[in-house]
Amino acid sequence: MKFIKKDFLWGGATAAYQFEGEFDKDGKSMNMGEMIPYIKLEDRASPGSKRKGFARAFVEPAIENKEGLHYPKRFGSNHYNRYKEDIDLLAEAKLDIYRMSISWGRIYPNGDESTPNAKGLEFYRNLLTYCKQKGLKIMVTMHHFDTPYPIGVKYGGWMNKQVIEMFIKYAKTLMTEFGDLVDYWLPFNEINISALVPMMGGVAFLEDHPGMSYDQLRFQTLHNQMVAQAKVVQLGHEMLKKKIFGSMIANMTAYPIDCNPINIIEWQKHQELNRYFYYDMAAIGEYPTYMLKLFEKLNVKIDTNPEEMNILKNNTVDFLSFSYYMSGTVGKTVENASGNLSATGKNPFLKATEWGWQIDPQGLRYTLNDLWDRYHLPLFISENGMGYDDKLNDKKTVEDDYRIDYLKQHFLAIKEAIEDGVNIFGYTMWGVIDLVSGGTNEMSKRYGLVYVDYDDFHNGTGNRFKKKSFDWFKHFMESGEL
Ligand code: BG6
Repeated sequence: MKFIKKDFLWGGATAAYQFEGEFDKDGKSMNMGEMIPYIKLEDRASPGSKRKGFARAFVEPAIENKEGLHYPKRFGSNHYNRYKEDIDLLAEAKLDIYRMSISWGRIYPNGDESTPNAKGLEFYRNLLTYCKQKGLKIMVTMHHFDTPYPIGVKYGGWMNKQVIEMFIKYAKTLMTEFGDLVDYWLPFNEINISALVPMMGGVAFLEDHPGMSYDQLRFQTLHNQMVAQAKVVQLGHEMLKKKIFGSMIANMTAYPIDCNPINIIEWQKHQELNRYFYYDMAAIGEYPTYMLKLFEKLNVKIDTNPEEMNILKNNTVDFLSFSYYMSGTVGKTVENASGNLSATGKNPFLKATEWGWQIDPQGLRYTLNDLWDRYHLPLFISENGMGYDDKLNDKKTVEDDYRIDYLKQHFLAIKEAIEDGVNIFGYTMWGVIDLVSGGTNEMSKRYGLVYVDYDDFHNGTGNRFKKKSFDWFKHFMESGEL
């Protein structure tokens, strides 16, 4: 079957704090991700079945610099030193677009400097220029879970409104310096994480706010990031005069477990809180009624003012983008499956990965239709893929037929959604070159078309090897054949 869609952008995605390494080089500061050690499987928060749980440090304050611990995100895939080789591989696979993130801590290590770090700017100018020379379009995420640690320590993270202004200064620098090189901008990766896992990336810590409820903390950090996102859109439209600003949301499609009306209401509430709320804020620019009601119930009082609310309303995004890995089920009595963010239930019709993420290509078609029908904004799938403990064989490749099948089924679902009438303009496969897992800090949870020779403790050469899926993807790019 052929997939022909003019102007559709196919590509791959990475994030600085999982990919670059060189965590303290050329003036860069640390972020929280780089302070989270590798936690052995048996010590994880959700013990039990293999590879099921999050790394414990995501639900506890980071354990800093204990002896003998390994901090995988400090090393990533050493992209900082090998970026030319990596971009060459993306170009060789004939990708149209590369989604990457810029590390705030390389540009403004403490957040409150008056001038940016020249070495950081130089690195990204070289990298972005090289991408352009290789014919790649570029989507940049300005913040991928990597608020500089000094901002957390001195300002208390995103609960502090001063951090919004520091972020706008950083965004302005990026658009001034790289506005001519970047094709699309995402102010935040998975902006809803701040409400779902506010400790992630050092966004906010409850210990810093004695007496505050967890709900108050998470919805206030989300609010502040939403305001920052709208301000970036406002500034970007003024500076660059193009409609190239999107919101990126961790999508959590779920189905009702059955047709019991009680479960339907449960499901509806789940989808409002876990999906629509974030899209509504980015696309419509105001708090939906169901959230205002929930805030009353939870005694959440958002610290805001009419000026902020106007900024939100008048600076909605140009497109919506989201990560899609799996789906779940919701109901009053559902057995939980595993997932990247919020627990949803098992679906007897779906198989799951080794990490318990339920594979559901039709759910992608459903999600695309659902979002297009609801918002009528162009859509972009900024993350999708399959984590697997790939093994390099004697021929120095990986026979990852499971990944090829995963990608193929999801590409077919996109094709069907386009035939349904959905306006979607691109797709970037997550972790296109192996990198450290965001959630579990493992190197061995691999997503790439390209294998990187490091184990969970960064033993290895770091050399790159093309997997079978690399050739499959390249063939798809050349022929459109699925
Ligand atoms: C997304 C994040 O939630 O999921 C990525 O944006 C992350 O940073 C990806 O890597 C996959 O999750 P994980 O935990 O398998 O790496």
